[in-house]
Amino acid sequence: MPAFEARLARHRRSATVARSHLRDFLQSIPGGTALMGDGQLVLGELVANAVVHARVSPGREIAVRFEMACDQLRIEVHDASSEKPAIRCAADPGDVSGRGLHLVEALSLEWGFEPSPEGVGKIVWALVGPEGGVE
Ligand SMILES: Nc1ncnc2c1ncn2[C@@H]1O[C@H](COP(=O)(O)OP(=O)(O)O)[C@@H](O)[C@H]1O
Ligand SMILES: [Mg+2]
Repeated sequence: MPAFEARLARHRRSATVARSHLRDFLQSIPGGTALMGDGQLVLGELVANAVVHARVSPGREIAVRFEMACDQLRIEVHDASSEKPAIRCAADPGDVSGRGLHLVEALSLEWGFEPSPEGVGKIVWALVGPEGGVE
């Protein structure tokens, strides 16, 4: 199964860097570009969350991992914080924050998180399929 892994700095530019890794990864796989739009949006939100919310000591990096299996793209974002992602309830229509995980929920087939097997931090993952998210 084709897979890709990279470590990134905890920096706001890292969402852009991660997206360019995903573009290269999907372009190297037959049929991969069908997942580009949703994959890029989901990845961008998950990396932004790791950068903004996973407040840990400087130097702790984040990592991304992509894997294609059965026409589905698995996106993983590893960070060093044990704080959990939590979908915010619908609030004010004018709110600009609290929307990222709603977008992940809408565009992925499934998403979730689990403790890192390395013992520190967690993995937030999402599965993106060619048909977009489930109804
Ligand atoms: N990687 C993460 N580490 C810790 N907390 C997270 C992470 N991702 C999301 N969260 C929590 O889940 C909430 C909802 O995330 P999101 O929907 O992306 O909204 P926003 O990032 O605008 O606050 C965040 O406010 C934060 O409390
Ligand atoms: Mg967010």
